[in-house]
Amino acid sequence: MKKIAVMGSGNGSNFETIVKYFAQKPEMEVDITCLTDDVNAYILTRAKNLGVKYKYLPFEQNGSYFAVNNFDLIVLAGYMRILPDDVLNLGKFINIHPSLLPAFKGKDAIHRAFDAGVKVSGVTIHHVTSELDGGKIIAQYPVLIGNLMHFDEFEAEIHNLEHKLYPIVIEKLLKDEVFDFADLLGGCSG
Ligand code: GRF
Repeated sequence: MKKIAVMGSGNGSNFETIVKYFAQKPEMEVDITCLTDDVNAYILTRAKNLGVKYKYLPFEQNGSYFAVNNFDLIVLAGYMRILPDDVLNLGKFINIHPSLLPAFKGKDAIHRAFDAGVKVSGVTIHHVTSELDGGKIIAQYPVLIGNLMHFDEFEAEIHNLEHKLYPIVIEKLLKDEVFDFADLLGGCSG
């Protein structure tokens, strides 16, 4: 049995796809807890609807919580605060970001990448440090931006990619598997 926590402050679409992915892999026995620092976050509604354990965890209580609750992996998915080192030392934290880091760190990355006119953007999954979107990169996948692409289309593609990529990478990490592009979504050109 692997225990993971998914921490989010907002919509929770990545959380939902992670839950659904592992529900289809009962042999992996992944036990998921949803944690949020915002009682009004939609991620909580999703957790209730999906029948997943959830907890409101105020930012100030992260240290005391993770000191006594051990997880194999703590997955940030739209968590809007910077975690300090004393909390990060209590577990293995990963995050997903909607750009090809180190480009476009921080908020509104999808908009800023599009407005900058980049022709390749994508999704990054990385270790979490106390530097915003600064930890070592675990996985990346590109999205190409054609000249006729509208922002909405680009944004949808980024989110679809996040939803496909995050569960696969979490599975690889939980299994301690080494992986490359070809093991993710059928290769870089796919
Ligand atoms: C995602 O775009 C993720 O990359 C970023 O925050 C967003 C969270 O979306 N860190 P959701 O709450 O999972 O729908």
